[in-house]
Amino acid sequence: MKVLIVGSGGREHAIAMSVAKSSRVDKIYCAPGNAGIGQIAECVPIKAMEFEKLASFAKDNGIDFTIVGMDDPLVGGIVDVFESQGLKVFGPRKNAAILEGSKAFSKDLMKKYGIPTASYETFDDPAAALAYLESAKMPIVLKADGLALGKGVLICNNLEEAKAGVKEIMEDKKFGDAGNHMVIEEFMTGREVSVLSFVDGKTIKIMSSAQDHKRAKDGDEGLNTGGMGTFSPSPFYTKEIDAFCREQIYQKTVDAMAAEGREFKGVIFFGLMLTKEGPKVLEYNARFGDPEAQVVLPRMKNDIIDVMEACVEGTLDKVDLQFEDNAAVCVVLASDGYPLAYEKGKVITGEENFAGKDGYYCFHAGTALNDKGQIVTNGGRVLGITAKGKDLKEARANAYNATEWISFENKYMRHDIGKAIDEA
Ligand code: AMP
Ligand code: GLY
Repeated sequence: MKVLIVGSGGREHAIAMSVAKSSRVDKIYCAPGNAGIGQIAECVPIKAMEFEKLASFAKDNGIDFTIVGMDDPLVGGIVDVFESQGLKVFGPRKNAAILEGSKAFSKDLMKKYGIPTASYETFDDPAAALAYLESAKMPIVLKADGLALGKGVLICNNLEEAKAGVKEIMEDKKFGDAGNHMVIEEFMTGREVSVLSFVDGKTIKIMSSAQDHKRAKDGDEGLNTGGMGTFSPSPFYTKEIDAFCREQIYQKTVDAMAAEGREFKGVIFFGLMLTKEGPKVLEYNARFGDPEAQVVLPRMKNDIIDVMEACVEGTLDKVDLQFEDNAAVCVVLASDGYPLAYEKGKVITGEENFAGKDGYYCFHAGTALNDKGQIVTNGGRVLGITAKGKDLKEARANAYNATEWISFENKYMRHDIGKAIDEA
C-alpha cells in the first residue's frame, strides 16, 4: 500500500521509519518532509495546512492511508477534509482535536467528568483576569487557550509577573489569537511524564511512557522549547501510577469525548504531573509528542499500520500492543540560540556513522538539502539522536556517544538528558 505522512519534524521521521518497517507498505510519501525523511520517503512540496492540495495529491497518487503527525492541521480539520473525499486517514477530526486546540475546552471537560487536573478559571476579558489575580495564590500558571507552539504557558512567581503575563497573552497578543481566551490555573509541583496512547473512539491502548526535557539549558534552566530530549520508559511511572491513570484518566477521557459527541480516533498524548496528591493532567495533545515519538516508536513491536488502521476502523480492542523490554534516549541537537534567534544553512556531516548500527537513529527535525545536495541545518531543533540500550543508563551512554558522530557549526545540546534516572 501507499502511505502519505503529513508533517516535517523529528516526530514525522520517527513515524516514517516505523511505517517503512511495515511489510504492508510499498511506498511512502511525506508532505512536506525534510532531508532525512527524504531518505526513506518521497517528499512532496505541499504544506501541512494546504488540505485541499494534500487531498488532491492523495487521490491522484492512489494513497491508501494518510497519517497526520502535526497538531496544526489536525486542529484545523484536515481529517474532516480527507474523510469527506473518501480518503482513509489517521488522526482525530476537528471536533475531537479541540482536546489539544483549546485548553479551556480540555479543562472544562476534565472538570465535568472528574478527571484529575489543576484547579483553574477561564477568562475572555483581561480586566476580569487581572481582578482574579489580586487574590490568587502565587506562583500561578497562565495559559493561552489556543495552539502556541508549546510556548503559550507562563509560570508567574508573583502578582507583577502575572499581571504582565495577562497583558502579554490577552492584550499584546504575543501568541496571536491563541490568547483571545485564557486559562489561569493552580501551580503544581512534581515529576512530569508523557504517556502516548492509541485510541479508536472507544478503546484506548497505552504506549510505553516517556519523559521530555522542555527547557533549553542544563538543569532545566533557560526558556521553554519544543523539547530538548527524551527517555523511555520513565522509571517514575510505576505500576501503581499506571493503574491509577487507567482508572481515573485514560478511559475516562475517551468516554468523555464520546459522550460529548466528539469521538476521538488517533493518538492522545497525556501530559501528566505526578503530584503528592497523585497524577494530574497538565495537558492533552492530539498527536504523538516530539521528541517523545523518537524514543517510543523505535521500541514498539507492532506493525504501526495495523495499529493505526485498527484505530480508524474501531477494532483496537483486537490489537495486542507490545513494546520491547529495553530503553531508549533521544538527545536533540539544536542550533545554538534556539528557541530564540539562530542561524540556518550549516552543513551537517557524519550521518554515515549511523549506517548499519542497530538501535541507533539519526532523526531529522529541521534539515534541508542545499543546492549542492548537502544536508544543512534548517530549524531550531536540527536532529534527534536516539539510541536504545538494555536499560536507561546504557541507552543514555549510547545516545551521548552517538551525538559525537555528527558535526555542524553552532551545534548545541543539553548534557543532562536522562540525568533524572539516577534518582530513580
Ligand atoms: P503545557 O503546554 O500545558 O504542557 O505546559 C508546558 C509546561 O508548563 C509543562 O510541561 C509544565 O512544565 C508547565 N506547567 C503547565 N501547567 C502547569 C501547572 N499547572 N503547574 C506547574 N507547571 C505547569
Ligand atoms: N514534547 C512535547 C510535545 O510534543 O508537545
